[in-house]
Amino acid sequence: MSDEIQVFDMEQRTFAPPADFAGAALANDRSLYEEAEADFEAFWARQARELLTWNTDFDTTLEWDLPYAKWFLGGKLNMTYNCLDRHVEAGKGDKVAYHWEGEPGDKRTITYQDLLTEVCKFANVLKSKGLEKGDRVAVYMPMIPELPITMLACARIGVAHSVIFGGFSPDAITDRCEDADAKMIITADAGYRRGAPSMLKPNVDAALVDGAPTVSDVIVVNRCDTEVEMVEGRDHWWHELMADASADCPAEPMDSEQLLYLLYTSGTTAKPKGIMHTTGGYLTQVAFTHKYIFDLKPDTDVYWCAADIGWVTGHSYIVYGPLTNGCTSVMYEGTPDTPGRDRLWDIAERYGVTQLYTAPTAIRTFMKWGTEEVEKHDLSSLRVLGTVGEPINPEAWMWYHEHIGGSARPIVDTWWQTETGGHMITPMPGVTATKPGSACSTIPGVFAEVVDGDGNKVDEGGGFLTIVKPWPSMLRGIWGDDERYRETYWAKYGDRYFAGDGAKIDSDGYLWLLGRVDDVMNVSGHRISTAEIESALVDHPAVAEAAVVGAADEVTGQAIIGYVILMGTATASDELREEIRQHVSKKLGPTSRPKSVFLVDDLPKTRSGKIMRRLLKDVAEGRGLGDTTTLADASVVAAIAEGAKEASED
Ligand code: WTA
Repeated sequence: MSDEIQVFDMEQRTFAPPADFAGAALANDRSLYEEAEADFEAFWARQARELLTWNTDFDTTLEWDLPYAKWFLGGKLNMTYNCLDRHVEAGKGDKVAYHWEGEPGDKRTITYQDLLTEVCKFANVLKSKGLEKGDRVAVYMPMIPELPITMLACARIGVAHSVIFGGFSPDAITDRCEDADAKMIITADAGYRRGAPSMLKPNVDAALVDGAPTVSDVIVVNRCDTEVEMVEGRDHWWHELMADASADCPAEPMDSEQLLYLLYTSGTTAKPKGIMHTTGGYLTQVAFTHKYIFDLKPDTDVYWCAADIGWVTGHSYIVYGPLTNGCTSVMYEGTPDTPGRDRLWDIAERYGVTQLYTAPTAIRTFMKWGTEEVEKHDLSSLRVLGTVGEPINPEAWMWYHEHIGGSARPIVDTWWQTETGGHMITPMPGVTATKPGSACSTIPGVFAEVVDGDGNKVDEGGGFLTIVKPWPSMLRGIWGDDERYRETYWAKYGDRYFAGDGAKIDSDGYLWLLGRVDDVMNVSGHRISTAEIESALVDHPAVAEAAVVGAADEVTGQAIIGYVILMGTATASDELREEIRQHVSKKLGPTSRPKSVFLVDDLPKTRSGKIMRRLLKDVAEGRGLGDTTTLADASVVAAIAEGAKEASED
């Protein structure tokens, strides 16, 4: 089989940056790109010096010992001085850092001064429990202000945090704590989700029954006032420790390469990897992209990244980027359908949100709920719309553009990964003419190429996405597993970072992400990306969401099997299934027509919203269900398996 990925006709609509937007944008020409192309190290050195405050200037911009990069060596800085103290010193202590809103409707307004005080106090609490620079702690919390406070308190004293998403099971907590030798877990009794407390502390207790022997303390925030067991000597209430803590905790300068955090990738397949990020380079790229990709005007903007801090998107674009840039953010605890399906639009209207950053899966859910929910609210304050997490199909892009953006706001489709730390491929809103479904091009200072299986550059067509030069916020390795770091990202091409994603490049040089390479099917010798078939399925007016897998097939090697959720307005029937199959055929050609289309009520997703195609493949190939621990709702697959048995194939 050749390594080439089949490429279909590409979306041809283009949208130039709106003239009024571009006129007032921070960047509206190609000068940043040109500067970075001429000398990318000098470009990043300038950004590091302009965007951050250093206690000691660096002397070496980049040390590249393939595949290990170190940035800004010799430089010393404190992460939280950059996020907090310097804004307070500049007279902005009263500026709102977070407009926080709990799911039940409770609100907290947290200024930069408030945040600094709380961070210093909690840093002193951590010290009083014996934590020192270089230690690791696990954080398992809901979306409450104590979560960023915890992360920043760790960063202030050089303790690396490992945030574990609140939806994960006790096993996931044990594994991550053991891998990192975490000394402490910071958690809460529970967090609000869909109108009721969703318990957290009992999962920590279960995780510690026989596992994670290095964890000697657990600190618990009382969020929901539920009954939890407190283990004498091990468990402590946050509010009790904070009551006596001093707010005096100097920001100690740290090496640029001080470990900032570990973040375990959610692991839809193998054992999770502890992705390592450090301080100076990470903060430089995150601050740069947060500023330019969202066209940030910190004096007037109210920025909102509606992700969960449990994922890298929240680390970089709810905590570190926005705070470094001194902007006001919205932070929301709960789900978008509680108490009503207009919750997001209600929040956006009330706070006058200017930038909204969300995921394609959320956008498709909003599409399914219908435009009435959106139309209840005035969204005219929005200036930039962002998306991240998976390829956005042109249908969802157009819906976002028309119904949320009033056909007048730039969309930034940002491609990046936990491993890349910050944005890598995305339009710049005042500069780039966008095409729906394309993440467009690399940011200034990042260089990508699409290559074939042998590593030959593809100038137009499909292949694999690689990054050809080190970038400041790149992962520094996998915690405790150098071999796996080399093998996962560097073995395939030697001197290029292999992202694990398929991509195509069009005649204008625009990049189109095709999803994980593991999600490429081989149908009669053609390599076809599941993302493209899914996009064609969702293009049918009755289809709200779709997932595609390749199931073993005697004739064609693999056969395309589609799982489809219908729009609320459509009625399931065999005719409709057939019509949907033919629709794909019409759009992409007969090789791409799914062999079967199943109409389902829900799709199996990880907690971060990624479809777990592996499980659908198990169902399609008639296997039992494997490991479903990372699923948001495990009953979904059982229901699909049940339905698959009943449905007839053609
Ligand atoms: C996918 C999330 C297409 C991709 C920040 C990547 C995307 C993986 C996009 C990383 C996008 C993320 N277009 N695909 N704009 N953004 N992806 O580590 O497959 O949770 O490799 O980081 O998500 O997911 P992660």
